[in-house]
Amino acid sequence: MLETPVILETGLPGRVTVQRITTADAVAFADHVEGDLPRLSEHLPWPEVTRTPDGAAEWLGRYERHEDGRVDVGGVWSGAALVGGALLHHHDPDYAVVEIGCWLTAAAEGGGVASAACRVLLGLARRELAAERVEWHVSTLNVRSRRLAERLGFTHEGTMRSNYVLRGDRLDTDVLSLVGAELDPFVQ
Ligand SMILES: CC(C)(COP(=O)(O)OP(=O)(O)OC[C@H]1O[C@@H](n2cnc3c(N)ncnc32)[C@H](O)[C@@H]1OP(=O)(O)O)[C@@H](O)C(=O)NCCC(=O)NCCS
Repeated sequence: MLETPVILETGLPGRVTVQRITTADAVAFADHVEGDLPRLSEHLPWPEVTRTPDGAAEWLGRYERHEDGRVDVGGVWSGAALVGGALLHHHDPDYAVVEIGCWLTAAAEGGGVASAACRVLLGLARRELAAERVEWHVSTLNVRSRRLAERLGFTHEGTMRSNYVLRGDRLDTDVLSLVGAELDPFVQ
């Protein structure tokens, strides 16, 4: 999945693509996380551990080995710079369910980049995984992510109360989904 670059139409100048990233990209991955750490860590747990090349290699390696339902990570490149990504994880092939996630560095935010990358991964989830349900999990504090999911057409199903801990705080998670034929428009 995503072995060759897919060009994204965005508001950023120049060529923006999404392509599978692996442990071979660990240095670039750690650099883009470290360069925007406080912002990326606000709602996500993994930037703290992927800010170093070793940590990034370990995290990317789990996707490369498809451990525990991890499918793939697509890195978003603006020219030669890694500026974010989108991923599919928690894949349950028996029930054809998978979860999508995404992030951008501050410089790439606000240009439709995350939306474009997510549309590509949603199409792949439907076409290559035959997904019948794609979930979007987002902290109730993460307004921008919730807005993106709703712009993509996700329906809010409910809120898991106090289901995870970030830096010592117990937080709530909104669960949104696209199901069945709602995924078809994303297939290229
Ligand atoms: C969540 C996150 C990925 C959303 O990024 P985003 O840039 O807001 O999302 P989009 O790619 O949909 O871009 C939307 C913006 O681009 C604009 N836009 C959309 N398409 C565009 C285009 N083709 N040209 C120009 N602008 C465009 C939209 O009008 C919108 O503008 P606004 O921010 O003024 O409302 C980003 O905030 C982020 O990385 N946050 C930190 C990590 C995180 O929380 N990840 C999610 C975990 S659940």
